[in-house]
Amino acid sequence: MTSGMDDVVAAETVLSQIDGEAGRLILRGYDIGNLAGRCSFEEVTDLLWTEVLEAGHDENLARAIGAGRALAFQRFSPLTPYIADLEPIEGMRFLLSAIGEGDDLAEPAALAGATGVAAAVAIRAAGGKEPVAPDAADRHARDVLRMATGGVADNAAADALETYLVTVMDHGLNASTFTARVVASTRAGLPSVLVAALSALKGPLHGGAPGPVLDMLDAIGSAENARPWINDALDRGERLMGFGHRVYRTRDPRADVLKGVVQGLSGRGERLGLAEAVEAAALDILSERKAGRRLDVNVEFYTALLLDAVGVPRSGFTPLFATGRVVGWLAHAGEQVASGRLIRPQSRYVGPMADAAA
Ligand code: ACO
Repeated sequence: MTSGMDDVVAAETVLSQIDGEAGRLILRGYDIGNLAGRCSFEEVTDLLWTEVLEAGHDENLARAIGAGRALAFQRFSPLTPYIADLEPIEGMRFLLSAIGEGDDLAEPAALAGATGVAAAVAIRAAGGKEPVAPDAADRHARDVLRMATGGVADNAAADALETYLVTVMDHGLNASTFTARVVASTRAGLPSVLVAALSALKGPLHGGAPGPVLDMLDAIGSAENARPWINDALDRGERLMGFGHRVYRTRDPRADVLKGVVQGLSGRGERLGLAEAVEAAALDILSERKAGRRLDVNVEFYTALLLDAVGVPRSGFTPLFATGRVVGWLAHAGEQVASGRLIRPQSRYVGPMADAAA
């Protein structure tokens, strides 16, 4: 066993399957490329939740998610003075902590709606802006984008965000999803699952990477500067954000889905040329310097470009990641509770034996 539990199988799931060698992601039998860009947030939520969560396959799921947004806004908007000085991901964590187990927001569909509202309210609060109220009748992706950016979300931008949310909805037993299952296994309830999983997502080795990807592109500035900048960063022992993955030994299939979306956002993908040059230089340099390890681009690299192109500030990237991933977290929580088993692994003691230090 490695300290990162790389080879440990800790759960059985019907939700998603990653083939790290082939670069393939399947959600309940569907290739991610056949869902993202074709199905709505609500449809893929329904796909993941059916027979897994009680709320699954509810004909009124879209309405229940919209109602959750409306209810969450009432709960969260008076709390904005408390989060003005927090990073959006921390403000979001604060807002979601205000949901008690057993209240109306603790239902899966309401929690999915509330997560998008918490993201949008926290993004605006960190920018010193008033929260924007939801439209419960709108589709989730467009409503969240409108609430987060404060502008009229046109269909192209809303479609782009929707594709993104579907693309990141579930992804095997990643760190935040494992966290969700551990907390669910204690019967702590879905609001606690959500806050715990969000906290795990926040770190830069997991969902915190896309903001730093944009910082990196800004620091590099031009295609000519890519190679020297990357070499300097690696000489300093830094990791390149948006590259590498624990499971994929090839290109992350989600990266190409998102890159295609950015290419289609005419006039808005201004960083795309630079990003492609940085990607090419990084892959070349990583293959030389980390010859024993196949490192490729991961989902976060083109996430950064997509979310930037639709007008989301970079500190809001991780909150929007959570807005998609919440669907998977809740589904895994449902599976874990149904399994009935508390997750309680063991550690191997390597300290001194009793009285040895005396
Ligand atoms: N840049 C430079 N070197 C890297 C990178 C990187 N992005 N990723 C891995 N490496 C190096 C490691 O330092 C290690 O080198 P060493 O053996 O000389 O010490 C070697 O490659 C092998 O690392 P792995 O065991 O493959 O990495 P691990 O599985 O522990 O980490 C991780 C995976 C955390 C994603 C890593 O690749 C990383 O830090 N990437 C940058 C952050 C990032 O993009 N995170 C988002 C991941 S996607 C997601 O969570 C949604």
